[in-house]
Amino acid sequence: KYPGLALTPPMGWNSWNTFACNINEKMIKEMADAMVSSGMRDAGYKYLVLDDCWLSPTRDSLQNLQADPKKFPDGMKALGDYIHSKGLKFGIYNCAGTKTCAGYPGTRGHEYQDALTYASWGVDYLKYDWCNTEGINAREAYTTMSKALAATHRPIVFSMCEWGTNQPWLWGAPIAELWRTTGDIGCGWYIKPNPNGWTPLGVTQIIDKEVNLRQYAGPGHWNDPDMLEVGNGMPVNEDRAHFSMWAMLAAPLIAGNDLRHMSEETREILTNRGVIAVDQDSLGIQALRYEVKDSVETWMKPLEGGDWAICFLNRAAEPKAIDFDWKANVVKDTLSNRELNANTQRYAIVDLWTNKAMGTTQKALKGTVPSHDVLMVYLSKQIKKEKH
Ligand code: GLA
Repeated sequence: KYPGLALTPPMGWNSWNTFACNINEKMIKEMADAMVSSGMRDAGYKYLVLDDCWLSPTRDSLQNLQADPKKFPDGMKALGDYIHSKGLKFGIYNCAGTKTCAGYPGTRGHEYQDALTYASWGVDYLKYDWCNTEGINAREAYTTMSKALAATHRPIVFSMCEWGTNQPWLWGAPIAELWRTTGDIGCGWYIKPNPNGWTPLGVTQIIDKEVNLRQYAGPGHWNDPDMLEVGNGMPVNEDRAHFSMWAMLAAPLIAGNDLRHMSEETREILTNRGVIAVDQDSLGIQALRYEVKDSVETWMKPLEGGDWAICFLNRAAEPKAIDFDWKANVVKDTLSNRELNANTQRYAIVDLWTNKAMGTTQKALKGTVPSHDVLMVYLSKQIKKEKH
């Protein structure tokens, strides 16, 4: 694959969660404008990704992909130019199968041709789905597309979307920058599975699937627990918990709400600099679930320079008290070979959602976490004063 891409988890916006097939040139340009005016771009969100349904139902006479001329009258090259003129990057979608999930022309058998088409349009990111792939091998199909992208010599981030069914974390790192680990997210804390049909997964159901995947993530190769539902209808506490946990998981942060009309509350969540910095930490270590006690999960993420992010996630329907004694909890993370030991090192604590200082790790951390919410704190190493 192209070297050096996505050394921190990709950040951007994708059309699917809010608009599904209802996309067009005017709306996408407005979204590019909104990424700038809302402060999203400057907070780090740079990929603007068109999901399914941008395509014309047929290829052209030379079998090239073409945009739907009604939805995108000026075509994809012009759209890419517009996106780039805003200081953003251009992402697009297709599928390893004969057709995309929504039934548009898929890439199967046209991998090198389509990769060259994307490069000629200035595409910087490809999300590559897994519908209509009967009888083909996932690892081979994704490897072919990865090679096709590399052959263009354009830096194009490759996002594999096969829903975790073929354990892409075991083979994805050499060929892609990110891979979906689960089925599609829905806008909910917990979404009851429908035994008679397909149902998306709620935020907590996705979190459960990430617990044992942390050893597979790192700079340039990320687990993707799917795009954000922040601002799409969950209460603010659940949005905050969702966003915090995606940062703890070093997940790609791909917003999926209508950025033109978001509330100030939503904007504050999506642009929280401290939480984003935890996601974007250069070590790229996915958090460890240290403890589960009385419906409160304690997640810990080692950061560059010996700092840590800690997130207490309350999954209960009522508030829960936190009383965490740092000195009694020496955390040894064997995966990253890092240790959090308040007996030998003092850390200053800051609440990442209120920005308030909360003392140091010399004393136990006490507080209350509301239902379906988090207490997320940043632990920074304090240099011990030297004795003279
Ligand atoms: C699949 C993917 C989604 C979205 C749709 C588009 O369900 O998992 O993220 O891209 O296809 O049809």
